[in-house]
Amino acid sequence: MRSITSLDELRSSRLSLDGTVGLAPTMGFLHEGHLSLIRRARDECDHVVVSIFVNPTQFGANEDLSKYPRDIERDLKLIEPLTDLVWMPTAEIMYPQGYQTWVEVEAIASPLEGTMRPGHFKGVTTVVAKLFNGVQPHKAYFGQKDAQQAAVIRQMVRDLNFPIEIVVCPIVREADGLAMSSRNVYLDPEQRKAATGLFRSLSAAKDLYENGERNAEKIRRKMKDVLADEPLAKVQYVSCADYDTLEELDAINGKALLSMAVFIGKTRLIDNFVLG
Ligand code: PAF
Repeated sequence: MRSITSLDELRSSRLSLDGTVGLAPTMGFLHEGHLSLIRRARDECDHVVVSIFVNPTQFGANEDLSKYPRDIERDLKLIEPLTDLVWMPTAEIMYPQGYQTWVEVEAIASPLEGTMRPGHFKGVTTVVAKLFNGVQPHKAYFGQKDAQQAAVIRQMVRDLNFPIEIVVCPIVREADGLAMSSRNVYLDPEQRKAATGLFRSLSAAKDLYENGERNAEKIRRKMKDVLADEPLAKVQYVSCADYDTLEELDAINGKALLSMAVFIGKTRLIDNFVLG
């Protein structure tokens, strides 16, 4: 595995990769969720590139950029057997002095995470476009855990004609259902237990759906009721939305996305299930 930082190194290393290239963009502090993307890229492509970059422009002013967990040495050991090239640009490389170009997706980036984290997706789409331009992959791998992020990136790829296939990989969960996330490390033992409330809430809503309920408000109510039983959980939103547009539904007639953002202490967790 070659580790590179500069754009020049990236360009010359990229030229030496014949055949198909799969990119797994990450912000590091890797867990099984990231490794599932990298393994899938390994299975499907001739070469695998991983990027590790904690992207400052997708963090809000009062979010956890400086505290975002980092362990590059451990990350490199984990990906070594699966990866040809790891690109770890600096913030100065990605956003040099005088930087002023942004990529912004509109409607699908507005609700849910877009409302709660203004500017977040503008930072994500800008950095992902730059990663795509640098690495020029044939396929790029993202996790279903960030369901709206995947939808926003798919839209960007369609709208800007990137010749890249977006592959969305299933959420990887702990044995008790908690979706894997780099932020889980912030949870103390009591909070860690409470964090299973998200999975329980989504599971209860799914049971209701599987028993024939199609009223979206009743499904949202069920998710809120289960979370209300968990004293450490502070709900930011629960949603039952159309899978393609992310608009809130009155009735579920096709594919729907159940999603939520919940604070457990100071840690903001998100999770989702797809119905139908
Ligand atoms: O999902 C993430 O880890 C980040 O949002 C991404 C796609 C690497 C962009 O910084």
